Amino acid sequence: MNSKKKLIAGNWKMNGGLAANEALLKAIMAGLGDGGGAACDVAVAVPAPYLAQVQSLTFGSAVAVASQDVSQHEAGAFTGEVSVAMLKEFGVRYALVGHSERRQYHGETDVVVAEKAQRALAAGVTPIICVGETLQEREAGQTESVVKRQLAAVIHLNGHCISEVVVAYEPVWAIGTGRTASPEQAQAVHAVLRAQLAAASEHADRIRLLYGGSMNAANAAQLLSQPDIDGGLVGGASLKAPDFLQIIAAAR
Ligand code: PGA
Repeated sequence: MNSKKKLIAGNWKMNGGLAANEALLKAIMAGLGDGGGAACDVAVAVPAPYLAQVQSLTFGSAVAVASQDVSQHEAGAFTGEVSVAMLKEFGVRYALVGHSERRQYHGETDVVVAEKAQRALAAGVTPIICVGETLQEREAGQTESVVKRQLAAVIHLNGHCISEVVVAYEPVWAIGTGRTASPEQAQAVHAVLRAQLAAASEHADRIRLLYGGSMNAANAAQLLSQPDIDGGLVGGASLKAPDFLQIIAAAR
């Protein structure tokens, strides 16, 4: 099941600055060495104002540019939003969609998340669709039903095969808390997601399922060795080059 190349995506969230971005990316690219040096795919999801800077710094390198969000609308009177066409102009390969912080603080529903994923796919940008339960939902025994509902919303995107997307399982209680899901807990949910994908597509094995939530240099190898964990979506630890490089090295 794990023959596909893993993907390690950093999620900078609302962090960074021109000088810090440059130092971080230069250290990451130096660590990867000539020819990329990574056995996995690598991406960084950066704040929109830095897309031009990050595109030019990473040009020709193994580091792909990702956005942290994308508008579900094509263009027009949507103040503050960024369209997929704009993202494409800055070389964006992946767009995070439905991150729990977007769902929680910006009221993104499953329907909106599906529209965003659809919009990204139609423009050739790969959506990294985030799903995950809150602590309250986990404690109420609802983990499976929550992630299944969130995945069901995006599983039949018009004219696209689900195998074109990346899915990230991010238990909300593990994000930024230092409280990682154990490899067994993560694998159990990934297996549920894989089964749901397999029921919808014969290409389910090709779909990369990332784990996210306090992944770090110390726990990455164990998480990434689980049969259905095909990479990581890394927040805090992606802001430190040595940590991010160690996670990349663990993704063989
Ligand atoms: P974290 O964030 O690694 O800091 O927990 C992960 C994410 O929110 O994508």
